[in-house]
Amino acid sequence: MPSLGRRRFFKSSLFLAMLFGGIVAGILAFLGYRVDAGGDLMSKRVEGEKIKLPSPRLKGNVSLEEAIYHRRSRREYLEKPLRIEDISQLLWSAQGITEPKLWVGLRSAPSAGGLYPLELYVAVKEKGVDGLKAGVYHYDPYSHTITLKVEGDISKPLMASCVDQEWVGRAPINLIFTAIFERTSIKYGKRALQYVYQESGHAAQNVYLQAEVLGLGGTVIGAFIESEIQNLLSLPSNEIPVYVMPIGAIK
Ligand SMILES: Cc1cc2nc3c(=O)[nH]c(=O)nc-3n(C[C@H](O)[C@H](O)[C@H](O)COP(=O)(O)O)c2cc1C
Repeated sequence: MPSLGRRRFFKSSLFLAMLFGGIVAGILAFLGYRVDAGGDLMSKRVEGEKIKLPSPRLKGNVSLEEAIYHRRSRREYLEKPLRIEDISQLLWSAQGITEPKLWVGLRSAPSAGGLYPLELYVAVKEKGVDGLKAGVYHYDPYSHTITLKVEGDISKPLMASCVDQEWVGRAPINLIFTAIFERTSIKYGKRALQYVYQESGHAAQNVYLQAEVLGLGGTVIGAFIESEIQNLLSLPSNEIPVYVMPIGAIK
């Protein structure tokens, strides 16, 4: 092969290889996120019982406009246990699968690139939820189940981690949103920082509105010591708490 032709051949082969490699890497990066479902980034080594939640209701008695109008951050709760149906509805509103037909499973709150960096836990106080023992449960949106992750009532140490905000200790449940930033940074690099916190806001707003419809109330908590909550939940070092949300009955 003449040298000019060979150079052209190498150049075009290199270009094709890079193009092909780029496409494959892109597909793998995207697929990897799902394939990893049993791996380090996606799942946690949870022990304990897996509990199937009741199916979420898609109809309510309060309009969206009324829910928006009445939404407030609420810090006083009745001493009344929540129902498992309430837990189902709250978790679903935050991260539930609403479009299962697509293989990735789209959720109730938007996510940059559909990469879903958020994980969701519910910390149940002693007698906080009818039929559930005290503990921290991890929510799996795909199966709409919760799995016991930490046994026992953590409301007091959780309150301490939230700079002693009393409503955290008093609420029958606290939702804890965590995030695995790598799921988003693999595609968006440093923008992941904004994207992940923006996503936690979307999910928490859904919970605010859903709580309102259920006659419940709560508040987002941004003031907390991340490392203490990581310890309380035995989280891996790359899973970072981003929001805490005490919720209880208000009427
Ligand atoms: C990012 C963020 C962090 C917050 N952190 C706390 C908190 O640590 N403790 C708390 O009681 N409320 C917290 N709030 C709730 C605000 O205090 C509340 O939204 C504000 O007072 C307005 O009241 P409203 O939500 O009833 O409209 C936070 C709100 C946001 C958006």
